[in-house]
Amino acid sequence: MAEERIALPTDIDALTALLAGQDYVAGRPLATVAFLALRLGRPLFLEGEPGTGKTEIARALATGLGRRLIRLQCYEGLDATQALCDWNFPAQMIAIRTAEAVGEAGGALDRTALQEELFGPDFLIERPLLQALRPTPEGPPVLLIDELDRTDAPFEAFLLEILSDYQATIPELGTIRAVEPPIVILTSNRTREVHDALKRRCLYHWVDYPALDRELAILAARVPDASARLSREIVGFVQRLRTEDLFKKPGVAETIDWAKCLLALDVISLSPEVIADTIGAILKYQDDIARLEGSEAKRLLEEVRAALPMEGP
Ligand SMILES: Nc1ncnc2c1ncn2[C@@H]1O[C@H](COP(=O)(O)OP(=O)(O)OP(=O)(O)O)[C@@H](O)[C@H]1O
Ligand SMILES: [Mg+2]
Repeated sequence: MAEERIALPTDIDALTALLAGQDYVAGRPLATVAFLALRLGRPLFLEGEPGTGKTEIARALATGLGRRLIRLQCYEGLDATQALCDWNFPAQMIAIRTAEAVGEAGGALDRTALQEELFGPDFLIERPLLQALRPTPEGPPVLLIDELDRTDAPFEAFLLEILSDYQATIPELGTIRAVEPPIVILTSNRTREVHDALKRRCLYHWVDYPALDRELAILAARVPDASARLSREIVGFVQRLRTEDLFKKPGVAETIDWAKCLLALDVISLSPEVIADTIGAILKYQDDIARLEGSEAKRLLEEVRAALPMEGP
């Protein structure tokens, strides 16, 4: 029922608070563009480094607003039958066989009626994009089109109709239009450029690695058991690592993972040995790990410690 719906945030601070309620720490630029996407009813296109919270914001938004999250995970070769809808072919075959058997037994076989039935709602398999156009009592769902850069240009072109008019055309059924547009979030890791025509329909934001304060706040929200001192060391070290010329820099996801690993080992403070033992939580390429061998981890840690405030437990 409409009156049971959670109202959309009325300003940027309210949205920031709603996300914080889901342990999602949004910086002002991201909160602003997300607020505008909600207010204007436009899709939000998030591009950025891996593990920086692009997917998670869709989850946080859906939970915070009490909406259903519908996720379309993109991959190479994704097409309309997987993304929008498909026909239940085995069930159609059974229906045809049954109708034929009835005909053979002398019953009436109405071919037109059968055809209409075969391409009607009973035989339709609804995939994420079509599900997102359907009305729901709690309010339009959050549609997450995740890792769009993994698909190809024809699929992007196919998305245009849905993203501009919130409608889809199914040859056998006609055009299906959302009564209320879903909240759409698209993400990309920019392994290739997404076409301008698609970007034009969206509000855009580049999700960068968070600054030190925000990463500390994220860690406090996600791994509250980590002490303030250990958290500062972890975040300081990860932020310092990101300034190195690495093949794959650690994202926020890695910071969180590392903190959990260190807690599981009852570590209270970083040391070169601890870093060497647990480095696999933040660096996933041997070349990057090799860079930290010898005295390099010790040197970085000393730099990080020198920059830390002295107070605190
Ligand atoms: N701003 C944030 N607030 C709270 N948690 C965050 C934030 N950013 C990232 N995280 C945490 O980091 C993890 C990774 O985030 P997420 O999966 O959204 O990254 P992503 O940008 O989608 O990465 P990828 O490009 O690899 O898919 C999540 O588990 C999430 O908890
Ligand atoms: Mg993601």
